[in-house]
Amino acid sequence: MHDKANAGATATVTNSQTGQSVELPILSGSMGPQVMDIRKLYSGLGVFTFDPGYMATGSCESKITFIDGDEGVLLYRGYPIQQLAEKSDFLEVSYLLLYGELPTEAQKAKFVRDVTYHTMVHEQITYFFRGFRRDAHPMAVLCGVVGAMSAFYHDSTDINDERQRMVASFRLIAKVPTLAAMAYKYSLGQPFIHPRNDLTYAENFLHMMFAVPAEEYVVSPVLSRAIDRLFILHADHEQNASTSTVRLAGSSGANPFACISAGIASLWGPAHGGANEAVLRMLEEIGSVDRIPEFIKRAKDKDDSFRLMGFGHRVYKNYDPRATVMRETCHEVLDELGIKDEPLLELAMELERIALEDEYFVDRKLYPNVDFYSGIILKAMGFPAHLFTVMFAVARTVGWIAQWNEMMNDPTQKIGRPRQLYTGAGPRDYVPVEQR
Ligand code: CMC
Repeated sequence: MHDKANAGATATVTNSQTGQSVELPILSGSMGPQVMDIRKLYSGLGVFTFDPGYMATGSCESKITFIDGDEGVLLYRGYPIQQLAEKSDFLEVSYLLLYGELPTEAQKAKFVRDVTYHTMVHEQITYFFRGFRRDAHPMAVLCGVVGAMSAFYHDSTDINDERQRMVASFRLIAKVPTLAAMAYKYSLGQPFIHPRNDLTYAENFLHMMFAVPAEEYVVSPVLSRAIDRLFILHADHEQNASTSTVRLAGSSGANPFACISAGIASLWGPAHGGANEAVLRMLEEIGSVDRIPEFIKRAKDKDDSFRLMGFGHRVYKNYDPRATVMRETCHEVLDELGIKDEPLLELAMELERIALEDEYFVDRKLYPNVDFYSGIILKAMGFPAHLFTVMFAVARTVGWIAQWNEMMNDPTQKIGRPRQLYTGAGPRDYVPVEQR
């Protein structure tokens, strides 16, 4: 543990009604704002805290990812995301997230082998797919099949066995891309494409998505690099909604496959991982540059539920560092594919320019987030919009599982159980139906 206990600072909280006071320790992490340890608040003062949406609440101690939203900084285990996106690769980043350090060459080779060994899924899972409608949303399918993994891999569901936890981690990192590609192939009515363990993680994913048995499929290095980078950028993001969901599900002792399935469900929403799909649909709806002012006006109107998708973030109050990398990657991908004038990209850049000058967005520090450009990249590469969130889930699986492992190793871990401010009816007697 860090020197959090030695911070020495305290805060005294007084209930002005009862006059009771309690002194609460203020803890320091290695970086970021201090936190007030309120664990003794209820016993000392008889009150709970009230913080819907966890606007000011730290839910756990973590050593994995650090974000400074005001400065636009994102670090995985201390390493800046830009450096990892430029110099590393997804499986190396996965090792870093899971184990805390960059691997040596030998450690990396072993890790790649360990993960790659698990890319195939149980043959019975293919029958499971057939139960879904072909037009099902792939996130619905993914929630189902990843949850179903606990019914297939009994030898890695004992959460108290460290080795089983690691095997489950490898299985999830290796098999979620296979399941995601199967969901896509199923929606097209094409045969499932088996993984190829001689390819890199990103290459194999593209192969399973786009190869067909009738033709050779050659993976473009520029496109596989773009996917690898997209995976790195989405791999973890500290205690966001889906990660907190995974931790909360895991806090009760649920098995990792069930927990990751819960995370996928949380990620699906348009305020979280569903935003990249929503960005593309929004750009298509706007249609042309001359209609941008109309949509900016709608985004600012409190009586209109429309929001500029791909803008704003709970933590970043500065440019999302992942958006900068995505923007560059977007240009590389369009060049590689020979797409000269992509109207959606032009529209996106103009929308970004106008929004960044608009007082409403400037005042609220609403900058483009990671999802603003990723949708354009994925569309150009041939991914349908309803698969975008699935891509996010593939990448985030390692972050979820790293956070879940960290929680399982935390001696202070308890079942997550928030309290509430009850505003419902007081005690009252049951009224028989004929008297109501
Ligand atoms: N368009 C217009 N206004 C916005 C937007 C937006 N995209 N985002 C926030 N605002 C306004 C909001 O109306 C509020 O205004 P006011 O103070 O006048 O009431 C103010 O900015 C603060 O917004 P908030 O809703 O309190 O902020 P939040 O931290 O609860 O929400 C958010 C963060 C990401 C849910 C939100 O910005 C949003 O809905 N953005 C669009 C969806 C999106 O792009 N999500 C992807 C997030 S990045 C990927 C990920 O991590 O999952």
